[in-house]
Parts: sequence; structure tokens; C-alpha cells
Amino acid sequence: MPDAGPLGTAHPITLTDGTATRTREVTPDDLGPVQALHRRCSRGSRALRYHAGKPQLSWAGWRLLSDPERGTTLVTTTAERRDHIIAMTNVMRTDRPGVGELAVLVEDEWQSKGLGTALAAHAADVARRAGHHTLTAAVAAVNTPMLHVLKRLVMRPIRTPGPVLDVDIPL
Ligand SMILES: CC(C)(COP(=O)(O)OP(=O)(O)OC[C@H]1O[C@@H](n2cnc3c(N)ncnc32)[C@H](O)[C@@H]1OP(=O)(O)O)[C@@H](O)C(=O)NCCC(=O)NCCS
Repeated sequence: MPDAGPLGTAHPITLTDGTATRTREVTPDDLGPVQALHRRCSRGSRALRYHAGKPQLSWAGWRLLSDPERGTTLVTTTAERRDHIIAMTNVMRTDRPGVGELAVLVEDEWQSKGLGTALAAHAADVARRAGHHTLTAAVAAVNTPMLHVLKRLVMRPIRTPGPVLDVDIPL
């Protein structure tokens, strides 16, 4: 598996337990490992990511997320197992010029080790380089970990007036 994606986005992140990881742009060869990531994730994690009870990523969903014209998808592996994807991060174009939509899915076993926070910060850099001025994210009000991740990006508390929040993050 290549060390870097087409735009050279390979990015090292060390987790709080010391595990070294690598994050790079997705390639067409990643479909199998991305599907496997989705199958290993709990139903709850998939529901928080997609706001729906998807058992796995659909073919249409994969085509969208892996199309560079539609945005940037990053996949994360450990440094030791480059064919085993443990997280997927998306910065997708929206119909608002300059606004990218952020989403992150970290495999349950790898959650709470600082990966989501580091991936969101990296995604903000990727979005800036892609010319975006704002990131937006749709987050369930019950999704405490993602709200913590976003709070670190916007550097202010996030109010939760309804069941799903659309959070805008100026870059
Ligand atoms: C949301 C998600 C991406 C966060 O990734 P992560 O690797 O677990 O995040 P981190 O380890 O960086 O922790 C982020 C924050 O959440 C807190 N946190 C982590 N797990 C938690 C838990 N189970 N309960 C409450 N808080 C938790 C951490 O303490 C941290 O807060 P802090 O920065 O104030 O210390 C990950 O949990 C996930 O993929 N969830 C399912 C999909 C999802 O919700 N995606 C977001 C939709 S856009």
C-alpha cells in the first residue's frame, strides 16, 4: 500500500497509547479494507457517523466518498499494518462555496486514544489547502466525543439546542 496518497497527504499521528499511525488519501484499492472497517464498527458508531442504521458503506456511498471531485477522503492505518484501516475521515464539498463537510469514523477499538481529535485537526489543514474557508459538521447532540472534538477546533463551547447540530467551523 502506498505511503502517501496522490497529493502526498500521508500524515503521522501517535495515539495516547503510543501506537504510531499513518493517514493518507484513499485509493480505489481501499474499498475492501474500508468495508471491513465498517463491518468491525459497532452499530452505534455507524449510526452516529451516518445518522442511519447502515450495516456497511453502500457502493453509491463509496463512489461518492472516493471521488476526488467530490472532496477528500483520508484513511488511517497503524504504521505496522498498512492494509488494515482503522479510521476514515471525509472533507466533502457542499453546495455552499468554500464550505467542506467534515465527518470522521474511528473503529470502536481505536476510539478514546486521541485519534479523532488529531484527525479533525488534520482535516482542517486539508480543507484549508483545498481552498475551504469553513468546515461544517452534522453531529447528534448525544455524541459527546464528537462534540469534544469540534469544541477543540472552534475553541469555544458548542450549544446543543436540538437532536442534531450543524456546527460551522471557520478555518
Ligand atoms: C467521534 C469520534 C470520531 C471521536 O474519535 P476518538 O478517537 O474517540 O476521539 P478522541 O480520543 O480524540 O476523544 C475526543 C474527545 O472525546 C472524549 N471521549 C472519548 N471517548 C468518550 C466517551 N466514550 N464518552 C465521553 N467522552 C469521550 C475524549 O475525552 C476527548 O475529549 P477531550 O478532548 O475533552 O479530552 C469517534 O468516537 C467515532 O468515530 N465515533 C463514531 C462515529 C461518529 O460519531 N462520527 C462523528 C460524526 S461527524
